[in-house]
Amino acid sequence: MKASGNDKLKILLRRSAIEKRVREVARDITRDFEGERVHLIGVLKGACIFMSDLVREINLETSIDFIAVSSYGKGKESSGQVRVLKDLDSSIEGLSVILVEDILDTGLTLSYLLRVLQQRKPKVLRVAALLDKPSRRLKQVKGDYVGFEIPNEFVVGYGLDYAERYRNLKDVCVLTLPESS
Ligand code: IMP
Ligand code: MG
Repeated sequence: MKASGNDKLKILLRRSAIEKRVREVARDITRDFEGERVHLIGVLKGACIFMSDLVREINLETSIDFIAVSSYGKGKESSGQVRVLKDLDSSIEGLSVILVEDILDTGLTLSYLLRVLQQRKPKVLRVAALLDKPSRRLKQVKGDYVGFEIPNEFVVGYGLDYAERYRNLKDVCVLTLPESS
């Protein structure tokens, strides 16, 4: 896919590497929750692609739901404010829940979500994240299932966006904007 304007895209993680790693993460989840049903909660919109690939590789009884939060504006930096834009459709009380995130960055979104979801009394609450940028952390949170640790670069593709663009890239790419922006 072509970058818009003078944006530059450089492949960081190829589709084939992502597919392989998603299968490994799904295998770990299948092993850890043997004999149980897992309830996956995808954080919209970034996690939608990861979530749909992950759930199909999990060899257990599953159910899915989505939650949407806002923490970022149109750009690259977090406003630090987290708000629920779309809540879950159903109760998670007593369920084995895996929160599915695209990327752990500052950790502000995740720590907020964990607090909100924990109040709803799931049996267990775990976190699966495709990507992790540990160097950016402001809140001490961590993923139980992490696809890839990546350096402090702004990435797009496989669900991740810049101003809603590039979610449909099959690879995860580093985005460099033209000097002026
Ligand atoms: P946090 O609250 O700072 O951890 O940010 C989490 C959210 O910010 C993610 O779910 C993404 O939507 C977005 N985000 C953080 N880093 C990136 C990136 O490199 N590319 C695209 N979105 C990002
Ligand atoms: Mg985003």
